[in-house]
Amino acid sequence: MGESENSYAIQMQGVTKRFPGVVANQAVDLSVERGHVHALLGENGAGKSTLMNVLAGLYQQDEGQICIFGEPVNIQSPKDAIELGIGMVHQHFMLVESLTVAENVILGLYPTGLVINERKVKQELRDLADSYHLNVDLDAYIWQLSVGEQQRVEILKLLYRGAKILILDEPTAVLTPQESDQLIDILHKMASEGKTIIFITHKLHEVMDFSDRVSVLRDGEMIDTRVTSQTTKNELAKLMVGREVLFNFQERAHERGDVVLKVENLKALSDKGLPALKGVSLEVRAGEIVAVAGVAGNGQRELAEAITGLRRVQDGRIWIRGVDITKKNPWQVIKAGLSFIPGDRIGRGLVPNLPISDNLVMKVYRKPPISNGPFIDYQRVEGFSERLVDAFNIITPSVKTNARLLSGGNQQKVVLAREIDASSGALVAVNPSRGLDIGATEAVRKTLLEQRDQGAAILLISGELEEVMQLADRIFVIYEGEFMGELDREEAAVEEIGLMMAGEKRERRTDEISQSSGGQ
Ligand SMILES: Nc1ncnc2c1ncn2[C@@H]1O[C@H](COP(=O)(O)OP(=O)(O)O)[C@@H](O)[C@H]1O
Ligand SMILES: [Mg+2]
Repeated sequence: MGESENSYAIQMQGVTKRFPGVVANQAVDLSVERGHVHALLGENGAGKSTLMNVLAGLYQQDEGQICIFGEPVNIQSPKDAIELGIGMVHQHFMLVESLTVAENVILGLYPTGLVINERKVKQELRDLADSYHLNVDLDAYIWQLSVGEQQRVEILKLLYRGAKILILDEPTAVLTPQESDQLIDILHKMASEGKTIIFITHKLHEVMDFSDRVSVLRDGEMIDTRVTSQTTKNELAKLMVGREVLFNFQERAHERGDVVLKVENLKALSDKGLPALKGVSLEVRAGEIVAVAGVAGNGQRELAEAITGLRRVQDGRIWIRGVDITKKNPWQVIKAGLSFIPGDRIGRGLVPNLPISDNLVMKVYRKPPISNGPFIDYQRVEGFSERLVDAFNIITPSVKTNARLLSGGNQQKVVLAREIDASSGALVAVNPSRGLDIGATEAVRKTLLEQRDQGAAILLISGELEEVMQLADRIFVIYEGEFMGELDREEAAVEEIGLMMAGEKRERRTDEISQSSGGQ
């Protein structure tokens, strides 16, 4: 093996990392060639972040060897990693908001008391940023920057520290499609300059679009490494999940019926008391899924909460089947027939320390046949729960198991089962598959489509564009509390949605004015 000129930047061999009760990485082998963009693919909990944190010096492996540029190394701290030329951009950025870009980059690099030649440092930074197409204003404060810009600052920081190997943990999770494209550009630029890039993702299209090689982790084990150009999305999905995966949902003919949910000129404030919804209007008919797409934090949460009675409405009106529910409380909204699948399962969706059965009956326990006058019929609770567990394929030892012991996917199925069962055909779903693995995501999305085909009116509020494109019949794009326009799924192009997500109103395009319909 290891002759003099080694073409590998990283060789990990038999790396095992245990946490109490969990083997996060089990005897993992991984080789990454110099100057490559290497994707690390796996479902949530597969062990991707842990493996990379071992390289970055945040964790130490329990077993196994690591070679960097052909040399055996012992990485005991982030400092060791940096000295070896390894840098990592974590999922949560580690920038100081009250400092400028330049200050953040040089923070901690020079001993205190040393006089820094600020002009020289800034010139170096500017050159570095230019050569890697990292477009950032060095004098801007971090709090002034978008998430995409902050990410570029993190990258600049690593480059300035001389990183030769850059690891990015799910870097596109927080970006618009355009920002993702810019990032892809930057990654390729860095690779062409000889840097080695590892990016962690669970999105197959990103692997296909921008990696040279891809390694797949499943349940802490390395399944395989492939040359990206010689594999397919389907093959990768199978490696990742361990079985065949369905991508294209069967398009069944479905009829649109009457308007079920109607929102008119809705205005609401954020928790901070700032305008979060600035007058949005939409209609959802029976038998259709209407999506609200957008980067998180543009009013989605406030919209869902205002409709479901969890947030005060400032102005505007909301109807369910012609009944005004604008000022109703959540319980009255439920009684009006609207169900809600919230974005945070634990907290709003589930009571983790109660059995699954209690979680399932939560909405119907005041009604017969579950309750008989003031009494709850526990026999019926169990029968009812078992029926739902069965129908929604919830994997659990028993209906008496506490909800917190289920996997994320099965927890989400509990919420889904309860809400769909209790609904009378009107549903608001917020990021229904966030954090779920491919298998559970598929199950959740199929369930929503089935409900639509059976005539449900579904408002889907989602930050996942792929989900929107798979499920929605019509799409609104929200930006800073306003709809940027409305699109039919058939005519919707990802690029256009991306522009709208970044604040471009659809109506500004003169060639389209004649056919624009519902947008404000
Ligand atoms: N600091 C930690 N302490 C205990 N368990 C952890 C820790 N970090 C990760 N794990 C567990 O290790 C496994 C792999 O996690 P992680 O590496 O974060 O996966 P991924 O990044 O692929 O989603 C999971 O079961 C997770 O719960
Ligand atoms: Mg991770």
